[in-house]
Amino acid sequence: MEILIKNSTSITKPKSECLVITVNSDKNQSDTVKEVDKATNGLVSQLIKSGDISGELGKTTFLYSCSSELKQELLFVGCGKLKEFDINQSKQVIEAAAKELLAKKVKSVNWDLLTVKSSVNSEIVKQLPQIINNMTYCFDQFKSKKSPIPDLNKITLIFNDKKQSESLTNGLLQGQIIADAISTTKTIANMPSNVCNAQYLADQAKQLGKKHSSLKVSCLGEKELAKLNMNAYLAVGRGSANESIMTIIEYYGAKDKKAQPYVFVGKGLTFDSGGISIKPSAGMDEMKYDMCGAATVYGVMQAVAELKLPINVVGVMAGCENMPDGNSYRPGDILTTMSGTTVEVINTDAEGRLVLCDALTYVERYKPKTVIDIATLTGACIVALGHHYTGVMGNNKNLVNELVLASNKAGDKAWELPIDNDFQEQIKSTCADIVNAGGRDGGTITAACFLSRFTEKYHWAHLDIAGTAWQSGAKKGATGRPVAMLIEYLLTR
Ligand code: BES
Ligand code: MN
Ligand code: ZN
Repeated sequence: MEILIKNSTSITKPKSECLVITVNSDKNQSDTVKEVDKATNGLVSQLIKSGDISGELGKTTFLYSCSSELKQELLFVGCGKLKEFDINQSKQVIEAAAKELLAKKVKSVNWDLLTVKSSVNSEIVKQLPQIINNMTYCFDQFKSKKSPIPDLNKITLIFNDKKQSESLTNGLLQGQIIADAISTTKTIANMPSNVCNAQYLADQAKQLGKKHSSLKVSCLGEKELAKLNMNAYLAVGRGSANESIMTIIEYYGAKDKKAQPYVFVGKGLTFDSGGISIKPSAGMDEMKYDMCGAATVYGVMQAVAELKLPINVVGVMAGCENMPDGNSYRPGDILTTMSGTTVEVINTDAEGRLVLCDALTYVERYKPKTVIDIATLTGACIVALGHHYTGVMGNNKNLVNELVLASNKAGDKAWELPIDNDFQEQIKSTCADIVNAGGRDGGTITAACFLSRFTEKYHWAHLDIAGTAWQSGAKKGATGRPVAMLIEYLLTR
C-alpha cells in the first residue's frame, strides 16, 4: 500500500476515489469541511446540523456520490473536541476511518490532515501505517486459500502547512519502517515450531544481514555455548532434537564505532513443553509463541538498520527448545551458569530465565549502555497485568522510566512492577546459590529477581511480554509487541 504526503490547500485535488474528512464536535469546522460543504451545495453543513454527520470521536458517516460536481465519495470521521485531541484519540480516528474504507472496498483516498492539531500531526502520520498494517496483516502462508489483498492501495495525506512538510515526511517514513518491523516480527513469531527452531531464527537473521550491509550476524551453536560455560542455557535445550543456537545481530551506526551499544536480548524458546515438569495439554500449542522475545529483537534490528540510527545496537536471539526426553535436564539438577552462580532446578518449566541468565552474562562483553531483555517469561504476568500491559522491571530507575515513557508515546502500553530485595528471599536455595522458581506469589517479580542476579554489571531492564506478545482464540496470532515501544525508546536516544 502506497502512502503519500501532499501539501495542498484543497482536499478535493488531487483526484481520488474518496475523501476522508475529520469533523470535530466544536462549533467551528475546518476549512476542509467548508470546502466540501461548498462543493456539495451546503449538504454537509445541513447534515452536521441535523446530527447525521457527528463530530463524536470515532463516529463515521459515508456518503456515496452526493454531488455531481465532486464525483468523490465522502467519509466523515468524528474526532471529538479539538482541545482534547491527542495521540490516543487520533488512533481511534484512524482506526474508525480505515475500518470503513476497507469494508467499503475503497481503492484510493485523500485523507485530510488539515484540521488536526499541528502538534500531533507527525505522531499521527507515524501511527497511520502501523494501524493500517495491523488491520490488514494476515498470516496465510500455510492456508490453501489465501486472503484477498485489500482494495485500498493508495492513501494521500493532505496537509496545508509547508513548515510541517519535513516533520511529516519523516514521521511517515518512520511509521512505515516500524509497521514493517512489526509485521516481520509477527510473521516470525507465528511460524509453527516444526518450521521455526533455533536454526530457523539464525537463518532469518543471516538473511537480514545479507539485505542490510550495516548488520553483522553471527551464531553460537552448542559447541560454542559449551566453551563459554553457558550450562544453564544448554541444560534447557538438552531434551530437544533441535540444536540450541544463540544468534547475535550487531549494528554500529554511531560515529564512534566503540561507543557503548544498546543491547537487546530476546527469549527464543521455539517451543516450551515445560520439559520434565511438563505443561498441561490445554493451550500448549500456544507455546510456539515462546520465542516472541527473539522475534521482537529481530524486528527491532531490522528497523534500526532501515532507520539508519546513529547509535550502536546489539540484538541477541537466544534460540532453544524445551522438551522432555531421556536426555532432558531434571528438577533437582544443579546447574553452574556462565557467571559461576549455581542454580537448583525446581521446575524445568521455568526455563526462560535459565536461557536468559547466560545470554545476559554473555553480553557483558559489549560494555553495554543499557541491556533490555524481552521475554514471554511468566504466566503470572498475565494474572498481574492482563493482556494490555507489558511488565517492566529493572535495576535502573531512569531506564525503566524511559521505557514506560516510550511505551506511552508509541501506544504500546507497559507498566512497572517492583523488584526490591524483599522478593529475593523467595529464590534462596538450600543446596545451591539460588533456585529457578520462586513459587506462585509474585511470580513475575521473582523471575525478574532471578535475572537481576546476572545483570549487576550494567543498567538493565526486563520486559515480560507473556500477556502482550500474542492473542488467543478467534484472533490467535502474534501481536508484534513490544517492537513499537522499543523503537520509540531508541529513536529518543
Ligand atoms: N513460557 C512460559 C510462560 C508463559 C506461560 C507465557 C503461559 C505465556 C503464557 C514460561 O516458560 C513458564 O512456563 N513459566 C512458568 C514459571 C513457573 C514454573 C515458575 C509459569 O509461568 O508458570
Ligand atoms: Mn516454561
Ligand atoms: Zn517459556
